[in-house]
Amino acid sequence: MTGLNFETVDYDEKKDALVIIDQTKLPGEVSFLSLTEAEEIWEAIYLLKVRGAPAIGVAAAFGLAAVAERISAESVEDFFRQLKEKKEYLNSSRPTAVNLSWALERLVRSCEKEWGNVKNDTEIIRHLKECLKREAFLMKKEDIEVCRKIGENGLSLLKKGDGILTHCNAGQLATCKYGTATAPLYIGQEKGYDFKVYADETRPLLQGARLTAFELASAGIDVTLLCDNMAASLMAQGNINAVLVGCDRVAANGDTANKIGTSAVAILANYYQIPFYVCAPFSTIDFQTKTGAEIPIEQREETEVTTMWYQKKMTADGVKVYNPAFDVTDHSLITAFITEKGVIRDLGRYVLPLADGLSVI
Ligand code: MRU
Repeated sequence: MTGLNFETVDYDEKKDALVIIDQTKLPGEVSFLSLTEAEEIWEAIYLLKVRGAPAIGVAAAFGLAAVAERISAESVEDFFRQLKEKKEYLNSSRPTAVNLSWALERLVRSCEKEWGNVKNDTEIIRHLKECLKREAFLMKKEDIEVCRKIGENGLSLLKKGDGILTHCNAGQLATCKYGTATAPLYIGQEKGYDFKVYADETRPLLQGARLTAFELASAGIDVTLLCDNMAASLMAQGNINAVLVGCDRVAANGDTANKIGTSAVAILANYYQIPFYVCAPFSTIDFQTKTGAEIPIEQREETEVTTMWYQKKMTADGVKVYNPAFDVTDHSLITAFITEKGVIRDLGRYVLPLADGLSVI
């Protein structure tokens, strides 16, 4: 893979710090942030300095491990009390991507299980802090493997020379490597598929223009940028053979929350009979949430729409703004989910029974 030659998310073991590339500065400036305090990690996630469901999950895991390093506790119980408080706090930074709560929960559980043979409280706490770091590194490694498998499974659905539309950034910057929706593109590039990729700019925060187009162009993949309202025109001309998007939370019936505008793309794809694929690591499938109606949708600041990309505010004072960060695509519009375990059509048939209380095999 010839992607960006830096890590989206990492952990500095000398400084015990979460290290991220500041995505709000891309593509103009490549700068890294080294974060150790819960408040600055919370803010980095809220402000989208690190973003994309899998990257948020791994960043929160490394972040909690860094914060845990600094916990001074009188007893093991006190350590867990403080750790869980920090976990809840970090979890409140963004509500929609289930990877955030999934990663934090997994991290705390991993160290609850395992105290080794150590005896006194000080030794146990030291050991727990090491376990947290080890688990966070494992999550990063797994994310890379999962994305690679999504890439291989996704590629089996595509043909050489296909025109592919994507929305937002479900790329290398949204994960630890490969991306989800971009993984088939990177692996296809290794195998000479010569895709023509079209990236929606993705209003209001321009993840498609700033991040996806940057990533793919840096990797030498043929990428063309379009405004969100241009997708129908491209589809009508027959330039799109498949749509690949990521997801922030998949409900048990297959309804899928992803970046605002995704459901409009799915409706268009359905009209033009173009396959619409959601690239979904299992960590993004929420077995507890039965349908999309239950997925919490983040509402964001109105200045992202009125001011952020303009030299001066472009709306009259008093104009109200609607700014949800995500929308839900109805499962009926999704041709298939591309997961690390394979391509799943009609996901709800398999997953919905799990939401009703059966255990995962
Ligand atoms: O608000 P963002 O930039 O975090 O939204 C990101 C997306 O919607 C991605 O498509 C999703 O997280 C999948 S990333 C593999």
